[in-house]
Amino acid sequence: MKVTIFGSGYVGLVTGACLAEAGNHVVCVDVDAAKVARLNQGEVPIHEPGLDALIRRNRASGRIDFTTDAARGVDHGLFQLIAVGTPPGEDGSADLQHVLAAANAIGRHMSQYRVIVNKSTVPVGTADKVREAVAKALKERQVNIEYDTVSNPEFLKEGAAIQDFMKPDRVVIGTDGARATELMRALYEPFTRNHDRLITMDIRSAELTKYAANAMLATKISFMNELANIAERVGADIERVRVGIGSDPRIGYGFIYPGTGYGGSCFPKDVKALIRSAQEVGINAGILHAVEALNAQQKSTLVRKLRKVLGGSLRGVKVALWGLAFKPNTDDMREAPSRVIIDSLLEAGASVSAYDPIAMEEARRLYAGQPKFTLGADAYGVVAGAAALLIATEWQEFRSPDFERLRELLAAPRIFDGRNLYDPDLLARLGFDYYAIGRGLSAVET
Ligand SMILES: NC(=O)c1ccc[n+]([C@@H]2O[C@H](COP(=O)([O-])OP(=O)(O)OC[C@H]3O[C@@H](n4cnc5c(N)ncnc54)[C@H](O)[C@@H]3O)[C@@H](O)[C@H]2O)c1
Repeated sequence: MKVTIFGSGYVGLVTGACLAEAGNHVVCVDVDAAKVARLNQGEVPIHEPGLDALIRRNRASGRIDFTTDAARGVDHGLFQLIAVGTPPGEDGSADLQHVLAAANAIGRHMSQYRVIVNKSTVPVGTADKVREAVAKALKERQVNIEYDTVSNPEFLKEGAAIQDFMKPDRVVIGTDGARATELMRALYEPFTRNHDRLITMDIRSAELTKYAANAMLATKISFMNELANIAERVGADIERVRVGIGSDPRIGYGFIYPGTGYGGSCFPKDVKALIRSAQEVGINAGILHAVEALNAQQKSTLVRKLRKVLGGSLRGVKVALWGLAFKPNTDDMREAPSRVIIDSLLEAGASVSAYDPIAMEEARRLYAGQPKFTLGADAYGVVAGAAALLIATEWQEFRSPDFERLRELLAAPRIFDGRNLYDPDLLARLGFDYYAIGRGLSAVET
C-alpha cells in the first residue's frame, strides 16, 4: 500500500520505517529541510534502538524516502498519516497549528480519495477540525473529492518504539464509516497477526483514549511519588511497599516506580491538555491538577535534599549528574527531570558536570554557552572532585558501578539517587551517605 506521513519525528519515523518494513511504500513529508536532507543522506536524527537499521534497509530497497514536497506526498499515498507535533499552547491546550497545516496541504493537493489519519495526540474534536480544514481547501479549489478522517492515536514508547509498533498491545482506530475501518484494518494487519489487536470505535472516543492512557500512567507515577514522600516521613521503604502492592493483580507491577517525576514530550503536555479540555466543558479535573503539581515538586526533590544536606547554600559547589535523557534508551530531553535539576543548580551558583550514554549531543545543544555546565566522556570522569553525585535516569550502565572508585573520586561520598538503583544497606556498608526516594527515615525530609 502507499502511505504518506506528515512529520518525521519520533512517531513519524518509527511509523514510516515499520510500515515500509511490512512492504508498504512510504513517503515521509517534513517541513524541516535540514532534517529531510540528513534523512536522505542516510542519517537518522534521533536515537531510537533499531531505527537506523530499519530506515537504511528500506531506503536501499526503495520503500521509504523523505521530502519537503507536500504535493508529492499527497499525490503518493492513499493513506495520509499526520504525525506532527502538538506542543502545549500558552494556556496548556494542545497547539493544533501543525496538524491543521498538514490537513490544509492535503486539501490543497489531493486529486482522489484519501484516508486522512491523525496519529498526533490531539483533543477530542480535532478530527472534525481536520475534516473542515480539508473541506475548506477543496472548496477554494472548487473541487469535490471524497475523503475519510480517522483517529489512530499512537501508543509507542520512546526507547522501545520499534518493538511497540511491530507488536502493539493494541491499535486504536476511530472512524465514522466502514470503508475507512476496513482500509485501516488492512494497513495494520501485518502487525496484529497472532491475534486481533485492533480496537475500533467512534472518532471522539479514540481521541480521548490516548489522553486517558497517558493521564492514567502519569497518575500512577505521581501516586507512587506521593507515597514515597509519606514513606520518608513515617520510616517505611517505598520499594518494599511497591512490591507489596504490585503483587495484587488489580494493581500490577507496571509503572509504579517512585522517582524524580515524569518528563518527556508526552505526559507533561498531555496532562495539561486534558486539564484544559476538561475546563472547556466545565469540569475541574482535580486528580489531574494534583498529578501535575506533585510532579513539578518531585522534579526538584534531589536538589532540595542536596541543599539540606549541604546546609543551605549551593554556591560554588561542584555537582556530578548521571543521566540527562528523560528515560533510558532515548536521547530525548524534552521536559526531563535532569533539566529542572541542572537549571536549579546553575541558578543556585553550583557547577554541574554531567554524563549520559546517549543524550550528550542534545545536552550540548541545550546548554551551549553555559560555562558552569560541562559534559564528561565517561561516568567516572564527571564525578572527580564533586561534592555529590545525583542520578536522574536509570540507564543500565549506572546500575552496578564500581563503588570503590566512586568513593575515591568524589570529594565527599554522597549519592542522591532519583531512581532508587542501589541497596541502601550496601551503600551504607561501603561508606556512602545515600539519599534515595522514599526509603525510610535515613532519607532527608524536605
Ligand atoms: N514521542 C512519543 O513518544 C510519542 C508517542 C505517542 C504519541 N506522540 C504524539 O505524536 C505527535 C508527534 O510527536 P513526535 O514526538 O514524533 O514529535 P517531533 O517533534 O519529534 O516531530 C514532529 C515533526 O513534525 C514536523 N512538522 C511540523 N509541522 C509539519 C507540517 N506541517 N508538515 C510536515 N511536517 C511537519 C516537524 O518538523 C517535526 O520533524 C505528537 O502529537 C505527540 O504527542 C508522541
